[in-house]
Amino acid sequence: MPLAERVVYESVAPPLERSRLKTTHINNRRYLGNKYKLLPFITRVVAENCKGVNVVADIFAGTGAVASAFTDKRLITNDNLYSNYICHLAWFSPQAYSRDKIARLITRYNTVMSVVDNYMSLTFADTFFSLNNCRRIGYIREDIETRYLDGEINERERALLITSLLYAADKIANTCGHYDAFRQGVELDRHLELSVPSPSENLHSGNICYNEDTNELVKRITVDLVYIDPPYNSRQYCDAYHLLENIARWEKPSVSGVARKMDRSALKSDYCTNKATAAFERLIQNINARYILLSYNNMAQKGNDRSNAKISDTDIMRALSAKGDVSVFKRDYKPFSAGKSDIDEHEERLFLCVSKIKNRVIIQSPLNYTGGKFKLLPQILPRFPEKIDTFLDLFCGGGDVGVNVNADRVIFNDSCPQLFYLFNTFRNLGSSHVLTMIDDIITRYGLSRSTDHGYKRYGCKSSSGLSSFNREPFIKLRADFNAKNNYFAYYIALYVLIVYAFNNQIRFNAKGEFNLPVGKRDFNDKMKAKLTAFIDRLREGNYRFTSFDFREVDTTELTSISLVYCDPPYLITRATYNEQDGWNEQNERDLLGLLDSLNERRIRFALSNVLASKGQTNTILTEWAKKYRIIHLNHSYGNSNYHTKDKTDSADEVLIVNY
Ligand SMILES: C[S@@+](CC[C@H](N)C(=O)[O-])C[C@H]1O[C@@H](n2cnc3c(N)ncnc32)[C@H](O)[C@@H]1O
Repeated sequence: MPLAERVVYESVAPPLERSRLKTTHINNRRYLGNKYKLLPFITRVVAENCKGVNVVADIFAGTGAVASAFTDKRLITNDNLYSNYICHLAWFSPQAYSRDKIARLITRYNTVMSVVDNYMSLTFADTFFSLNNCRRIGYIREDIETRYLDGEINERERALLITSLLYAADKIANTCGHYDAFRQGVELDRHLELSVPSPSENLHSGNICYNEDTNELVKRITVDLVYIDPPYNSRQYCDAYHLLENIARWEKPSVSGVARKMDRSALKSDYCTNKATAAFERLIQNINARYILLSYNNMAQKGNDRSNAKISDTDIMRALSAKGDVSVFKRDYKPFSAGKSDIDEHEERLFLCVSKIKNRVIIQSPLNYTGGKFKLLPQILPRFPEKIDTFLDLFCGGGDVGVNVNADRVIFNDSCPQLFYLFNTFRNLGSSHVLTMIDDIITRYGLSRSTDHGYKRYGCKSSSGLSSFNREPFIKLRADFNAKNNYFAYYIALYVLIVYAFNNQIRFNAKGEFNLPVGKRDFNDKMKAKLTAFIDRLREGNYRFTSFDFREVDTTELTSISLVYCDPPYLITRATYNEQDGWNEQNERDLLGLLDSLNERRIRFALSNVLASKGQTNTILTEWAKKYRIIHLNHSYGNSNYHTKDKTDSADEVLIVNY
């Protein structure tokens, strides 16, 4: 029936006292496999067995209950259901919000008595909710979206309101906890009442929530502890919670079947099928974490078929043992079963795997430094000696090598003083503080936030980037920075400039002014993740930063188990930082002389360079290198513009070592 014919009326009851508003907490919802009651067990196992945990990822987060036990850490959450992701944003996003605004809107929503028909009432009336409650849910959801699109509420506020609505709807739903079916012939008279979500107030400003397939996400994140709580059996969460997912997404799809389910084919999880074991093995292989904590109960071949676990204990142990040492912790816990089967001796287990992979998890510098060695690290790191007391990174650039090497201490040197100050600022302030300051600068200058608002809000497409929107604020920020207007956070402003600059690069003119134009991208989640991981690493390692010409660096303290690593500008290629006072033959000869003298003192060195590129040969280097061992690396810089614009050229990239 067309909407116009079914218009009822809208009236708003007198406002309730705000003080009468109820609050709601993360565990005030029903969710299959929710681990809220297991938190004392989980936190005890972590506290007693995991050291130095600063970053925790809850990668099948569901309600987010487990993440909520670690809000004193930096959190990463993920779930492939959007309805869960929205709740994670509400509970864990560091974005500021107005509690007053939320309370005002919720008060208003609680007083909407009767409204016009809408998608919810036309699709779900008198099934999971009464007609009247459906009208109210549809009205409220539409209102949240309109206010968000009008810019009246921000992303966090939208998430808090949707979370409040989902929790309230779930509370009165005519179900036995999930939406596979509704109970027939039941009075649907329960009143929908929203409460104000009360997230923790001291969240880490580096928290990030994701909504994607976990197997893809783990390839990009690096954390101290990853908690894994996948579905155990063939019950797909997208089937059980299709209605909440529908309300959260608000795409108003057509539905089918008695339970009125939307198309969920894109939301099905491999972990509920016979692909579970293979998916789990791949997941574990790709995890970058010192500790992996897995919840998996022991229901294999017990209960009814649907409740049977998809991954056997043998497969779990094989996958985890390949990564590190595994311990199993047990605690009795009520099993999940649809209520039809009797299951005895059920235990809830936690598998803790302490990664034995010696090399540290590889992270990427947040500076897209020209010539950065990130892509070559898998080839370079295994060529370094096993035991290194001091690793001196003479031309550290963005720091990709130094932060990933296994050494008792690392000295980062670069003649660019701005790098020295930037790294020190990062380390002194810590990631949470740095992110807050970046956020202030972005707000103060009105730069884009594509992660929060998408590209559309800025009238830009992802392909052409955000430069047209950001040009003006970027130029203003750059001018203030170059004028050194007693800038309140000088080096953080420099980092923001780098992020919003062309190719995220760093370049200064002869007067020391930052002189790159605006670029296409902004401080998106990927940048944020890289920056936080990098700062956390800077704070935990034994690191020193210096800013000297390579000829001036003090090497007197180095011993025979030290390693001097050099990644200088390359003589036969051109890089942005090399345009002002280019690297010339004299520099090259001085560096090679320095390496010879280290060799005479039996101090180990490793030099990155290219012997030949684009038809040119570095004859000075080629001659000199004959005295040492040359390791040819198999790499073309591909999409980096470091050596040449000709992307088909593959330079003869080498590591020259004296050990
Ligand atoms: C056992 S529940 C997690 C419960 C959670 N620990 C809690 O306390 O609420 C498993 C979760 O994994 C999600 N999920 C299933 N497959 C996924 C995948 N491939 N990627 C991301 N999330 C997935 C489901 O939507 C579900 O919320």
